[in-house]
Amino acid sequence: MIAAHGGRLINRIATGAQRDELLKIAEKAPRLTLNERELSDLEMIGTGAMSPLTGFMGRADLNGVVKNCRLSTGVVWPSAVTLSNKDGVAKVGETVALHDEGGKLIGLIEVREVYSYDKKDEAEGTLGTSDEAHPGMQYLMSIGDEYVAGDVWVLNMPEYDFANENRLTPRETRVLFKAKGWKTIVAFQTRNPIHRAHEYLTKCALELVDGLLIHPLVGATKADDIPAKVRMDCYETLLERYYPKDRVALAVYPQAMRYAGPREAMLHALLRKNYGCTHFIVGRDHAGVGSYYGTYDAQEIFGNFTAEEIGIQPMMFEHAFWDKVAGAMASNKTAAATKPEDKVFLSGTKVREMLTNGERPPVEFTRPEVADILINAMTSKASV
Ligand code: ADX
Repeated sequence: MIAAHGGRLINRIATGAQRDELLKIAEKAPRLTLNERELSDLEMIGTGAMSPLTGFMGRADLNGVVKNCRLSTGVVWPSAVTLSNKDGVAKVGETVALHDEGGKLIGLIEVREVYSYDKKDEAEGTLGTSDEAHPGMQYLMSIGDEYVAGDVWVLNMPEYDFANENRLTPRETRVLFKAKGWKTIVAFQTRNPIHRAHEYLTKCALELVDGLLIHPLVGATKADDIPAKVRMDCYETLLERYYPKDRVALAVYPQAMRYAGPREAMLHALLRKNYGCTHFIVGRDHAGVGSYYGTYDAQEIFGNFTAEEIGIQPMMFEHAFWDKVAGAMASNKTAAATKPEDKVFLSGTKVREMLTNGERPPVEFTRPEVADILINAMTSKASV
């Protein structure tokens, strides 16, 4: 099976006597409340999804990430994984208990460093912009000035009110792939319902490998993205009807979106290696937002590193659409259609408008069963 990023699958989930001991320490320790992004990062460090990270980043690692897209050890790492020191609670040398916003104890951090880092530099390096309208910059501006770094332990897994049976850790997906006898597995990252273009990409990829892991991101997203809970219904319905059951698995990826385009595409790919995947789909404007990134920037960034450093094989796809002439999905590489009017592209805004008005987008854009789930969610406020 493919090696974890950095060589070793980390496990920072405390169990047995060690957990009992750490629970006693956490009870008496100062408390830090994690925001949604930090909570999912902690969970992913714990399960090894963030291997080789064993905790939240210190200055040397963050600086390496910002300036060179590498940890201080030289391992490729594109995104900041930091913990903000709310109200200056954490002090160097202490152990601090980490709670979720509901007050539940999730884990602890052994504080090695407390530091501040220029937000603008961090944003320029990791997002490619420090424009205040970028959601990643907005996040940075919303947290305090200090970061806390150090190794963490997870003592209780966060609780969620959806997709609990799909929350497979990297160890669990690896066991699953082995049981299925899959040697090559392509992961599909998405923060959207699966529309026809997504379906096309996943099926083209599945022609070339043993198995497909549909791995939707279910951590924090922008307010106007479709909630993960609703998307899960879409994935399950689509898989039930339109995919080969024995060659596809559905599990969730608990990370928060950074909307960092190319850097985030790298992160998404590297971490899928930890889940045991050998291939990763990168289409157009992966993890993009607004017009901050070029259509294929998220593919080109892979060219800056060697195949050995990345370790997972990116599968790159051009912008896909319905080709009216051929009566099939295609891209400009395969389409018979040449005129724009023969290519069905719909903007996110247009689709949202149709769904909110209770209208199904054309079947060439989205399967009717998926459209109906979305219409239902968007027209009944209670479920969104
Ligand atoms: S993302 O933030 O997770 O990248 P989204 O869920 O829209 O957003 O995309 C999931 C994957 O499908 C990404 O690799 C993206 O590049 C790709 N993708 C989305 N739509 C298209 C399309 N029409 N053509 C080609 N690739 C696409």
